[in-house]
Amino acid sequence: MRKVLALVVTALGVVACTPNAELSAVSSGTLALSADSANLYVLEADQNKVYVFDANSYTQLATVAVGKNPARIVVASDETIYVSNRGERTVSVITRNGSSWTEAARIPVGVEPVGLAVTKDAKTLLVVNSTMLTDLTTGSLMAIDTASRSVIWETPVGHEPRAVGILSGDKALVPLYFDGTADLVDIKTGNITRQSDPLHNNDTIDSEVAAGTTAGLTASTSGYLPTGLSDVAVTADGTRAFIPGQWARVAPIQRPPSSGGYYSLGGPCSYGAVVAPGLLTYDAAAWSAHDTLDDLSSCSGPNAQVVANYPPTAIPPDLVVGSATAVASSVATDPGKEVSGPVAAVVDSTGKYVYVANQQSGNVLVMTAYGQDQQPVNLGAGVVAYADLNTGDLTQGEGGTPGPSGLALHKDGRRLFVHNAFDHDFVVLGCDNCTSTGTMTILQTIPYTTPTLPPEAEQGRKLFFTANNADITATGSPVACASCHLEGRTDGHPWGFPEGLSTTPVLVGRNFTQTQPWDWSGSFTDLGLVGIDQTSFFSDVITQRMGGSDQVGATVHNEIATWLSQYAPVQDNPFRYDASGNVLPLSASAQRGQALFNQVDISAGLNNGRSCATCHNPSTNFALSYTVADSTIRDVGTDGSAGNAAYGNDPTGYTVEGQKLTPDPTLNSDVTGFDVPSLLSIGRSGPYMHDARYLTLDQRLHDGNTTHGNPGRFTESQKQDLEAYLLTL
Ligand code: HEC
Ligand code: HEC
Repeated sequence: MRKVLALVVTALGVVACTPNAELSAVSSGTLALSADSANLYVLEADQNKVYVFDANSYTQLATVAVGKNPARIVVASDETIYVSNRGERTVSVITRNGSSWTEAARIPVGVEPVGLAVTKDAKTLLVVNSTMLTDLTTGSLMAIDTASRSVIWETPVGHEPRAVGILSGDKALVPLYFDGTADLVDIKTGNITRQSDPLHNNDTIDSEVAAGTTAGLTASTSGYLPTGLSDVAVTADGTRAFIPGQWARVAPIQRPPSSGGYYSLGGPCSYGAVVAPGLLTYDAAAWSAHDTLDDLSSCSGPNAQVVANYPPTAIPPDLVVGSATAVASSVATDPGKEVSGPVAAVVDSTGKYVYVANQQSGNVLVMTAYGQDQQPVNLGAGVVAYADLNTGDLTQGEGGTPGPSGLALHKDGRRLFVHNAFDHDFVVLGCDNCTSTGTMTILQTIPYTTPTLPPEAEQGRKLFFTANNADITATGSPVACASCHLEGRTDGHPWGFPEGLSTTPVLVGRNFTQTQPWDWSGSFTDLGLVGIDQTSFFSDVITQRMGGSDQVGATVHNEIATWLSQYAPVQDNPFRYDASGNVLPLSASAQRGQALFNQVDISAGLNNGRSCATCHNPSTNFALSYTVADSTIRDVGTDGSAGNAAYGNDPTGYTVEGQKLTPDPTLNSDVTGFDVPSLLSIGRSGPYMHDARYLTLDQRLHDGNTTHGNPGRFTESQKQDLEAYLLTL
């Protein structure tokens, strides 16, 4: 538990310090204030509990048990409290009676509910489900009548949404985690009034490749739409929304690293890392025409302002990207004050300031809200304050403690509560003694409980999420493991590695410590959990890719691996588990599919004589572990070499492959084949294959490639059965 209240604050202007009785509290993420700012509710996900505090004295008033793996909390105007229980497909309803709080109900919803919002009249609760119970390729928005606690409507929205905000005119804005944009839904009817592109935009791949053909995939080119859109903050009048994204865009990766590993070379603005967090602004008046994307990281240097291929050449029709200017230039250029992993945001009720909690850099940005969307602003002054929540309590290296995941601004505008979930405390930032030029300081840190996970796992989680720990990542390069493995999963992105495209694999729920070798090419047979071995996979990722020192070596590797493989929440799957986590029996179709999965291919073809299960072995996590590389078993015709041109219905994917750079023999000597990946939780692990050539499993089963298990031998209904089985893995 931290004892020292460390603080770094840069104040370049005035924080909203004027008390105003008209104003109300605003909250987002894992903690929330009651509308009158009297009570503070803090989610403790490791304990499945809500801690209730007096928001003035910070005394703990109560704890309330909620469902498994609670993700977000909101407080309605009538002070009913709602918690999305991500791990069990429910929403908890907590009611207050004087000074006691009770969980009154758990409402069944969809898969991995996260985003929540309540209408001003407290009558309608909106719940965002990461996927639907019946379809893993689409998330949904649900409207629930708070009186009867029953679902009024459920509307499929795009892929993997995590948040919802309520706009003026009874509209809900639902950002899509992977798709770089947001759906707009009419709250009265549940009808979508503006829809984004489905599933992982091909544009992300195309624009990167297009950049490569003209500019050789250098650091000055970038593509990729905003990704990891985790929250939405709406102004009090409901006319503007701010959506923090873990990526605004990405720079292709070069070899050899000039400094700091190749994940941290150059970056979109020749500064820092490939990570460029961003803020999307939606404006009610303008959104039929455009939304605006700003970087939260620096854009100094030769590529300041608009860089080549940015905005990307092909973008969804509903997203027009504004000028690529940095909001936080004054902060991010200052080493040690990088911004990474924005996951929660609020706008104060005057609509002037946006507060962003950065989970990976462990800090909070306070920005002017008017610096977006065509209005010129002196970006240097765009950041008014920067509060570092650094307590240095990672045992190795230095840097801010990762973990802020919730923000609540007191209605007086003088106190901002920040939840440091990984530290199990909250800090009170404020300007109690502020003058007109007041700065925010940490007034108090309130630890509310002791850690429940084993120390190794608690530490591993912080290490996985940290973007500024010198042992893991290059100084001044705000990249975390979680920057790409979002939530321990994928970013859906095929990275332009020098040896070819490499899609970020899902790590959780796959027993990845047991599926040697590692990386797509299977180049690493040692994960690095014992001793210091600079050739191990973890050492390579940390030193070569992220530019970390890796001084601690195996201890750090083990801590990360422990958290990831044993404690990180896995992807929920309604085809495999019921809501309580019990394994479901296979449907008749899935049973037929299982038989097909095991059926040997007796037609002609390179892998004639093998079944899917020969390579994706059910007894070894549906992967294939080996110590001696067998190039015939790994060559499924996907390496893009001559003779492997047989791609059925995805010409785009093959074009991508055709753009492959010259293989780097030091990293990936075996380009004739790829490691057989685990198929566990494959239903939500797309896009598929090392180069993301298939956006869906359906595409995978309809390709014309005879050498990869030859799915062409199956009839249409057999393919459906096979897919039904794959969805249960
Ligand atoms: C810039 C994005 C990025 C970052 C940052 C990143 N990874 Fe990865 N990770 C990838 C990609 C892409 C692959 C596939 C790599 C390949 O095939 O060469 C991968 C592969 C892996 C694998 C291999 C999985 C398997 O079964 O083969 C593990 C384990 C892993 N990463 C863990 C980590 C850890 C731990 C960190 C932080 C220390 C980290 N990654 C940081 C993108 C990233
Ligand atoms: C000869 C070995 C082999 C056989 C047989 C085989 N696979 Fe694969 N599978 C692989 C390899 C290797 C990859 C990775 C290739 C790449 O990324 O280019 C892969 C990748 C996949 C992926 C994508 C995984 C991901 O995480 O992106 C799916 C899905 C898949 N296989 C399904 C199947 C099905 C279904 C069958 C049977 C019809 C099958 N495979 C037969 C070796 C095999």
